[in-house]
Amino acid sequence: MMTVILILSLTISLISQGYSLSAIVTNNEIKTLSETLFRLDSNSATDSQLVIDPQAQISSSKTNSQNDLSPRPLFKYVSEDTLFSKPTYKALLSLLDNYRWATGDVEYVPSKEVQEQDTFLRETMLNTEIGRELYNFLYSKGMYSSQKEFIQDLKMMWFGLYSRSDGKLDSSGFEHIFVGEIKGGKISGFHNWLQFYLNEKEGLLNYYSHSFNGPWTTYPDVLGMQFKWDGYFKEVGSSFIGASPEFDLAVYSLCYITRPGKMCYLSLGGKTQGIQTYTWNKSSYGDGKKYIGSAYPATP
Ligand SMILES: *[C@@H]1O[C@H](CO)[C@@H](O)[C@H](O)[C@H]1NC(C)=O
Repeated sequence: MMTVILILSLTISLISQGYSLSAIVTNNEIKTLSETLFRLDSNSATDSQLVIDPQAQISSSKTNSQNDLSPRPLFKYVSEDTLFSKPTYKALLSLLDNYRWATGDVEYVPSKEVQEQDTFLRETMLNTEIGRELYNFLYSKGMYSSQKEFIQDLKMMWFGLYSRSDGKLDSSGFEHIFVGEIKGGKISGFHNWLQFYLNEKEGLLNYYSHSFNGPWTTYPDVLGMQFKWDGYFKEVGSSFIGASPEFDLAVYSLCYITRPGKMCYLSLGGKTQGIQTYTWNKSSYGDGKKYIGSAYPATP
């Protein structure tokens, strides 16, 4: 009975996302696939390429107290020479400076930036083992019939513009999750460690504390951080620390495609990690498909 209800509700959520009936993905399949993606990830930072200094940990009930309890930066050392010369890192870095952070500010996307999006999707999803593994899985479920269709759908899902303020095309899933936005006097989104590192290095971001720390001893680690960016506060900004761009994109896409708007349970190195995603409900693309609203590591 439980199984029937589960399969029914999964089917309904997939159909409402515009996917076909055959596309049923079990929790165990998500766990098995995420273990494989974790194992295939050869570009995440190693212990010698990245050193963090997490300093103060606060209780999850005090995340809004806005005290700078950490005098030093979160990122103590990042081996830019090794990491930033990798094609997927280069592709992500070239996208990060394309956005206007405030909601209500229209995003202009010149053709150079569209090319950067295409390069990012190609390098992360077609030119890495992680990307190919994710595609093969979704293909086996009948969700995509070619890599071209897969990439085109990811492009709309992640980079398609929508409006968070006054009907202006000011936002996208990519901007929200990888870059971060400023909305209503607060930071919204902001779940990528490279964006955190670069802004901290530039002096635009001040790390305050963290309220959760994943159970890992190697990267990618998970932290929920309190910080100020450009004068605005983030109460809990969680990220995979040290993860390669293709790892973030693959696990967020996996969860968004198979568990849209829900908590999704990954298994990474034998440990369970929740990913919460949100659908953007106010506009859609293609055959009623929804843009990605948000995705981030969450405590299950
Ligand atoms: C968006 O739609 C989904 C699925 O219908 C629903 O579960 C969710 O609550 C909606 N989100 C918002 C913010 O209304």
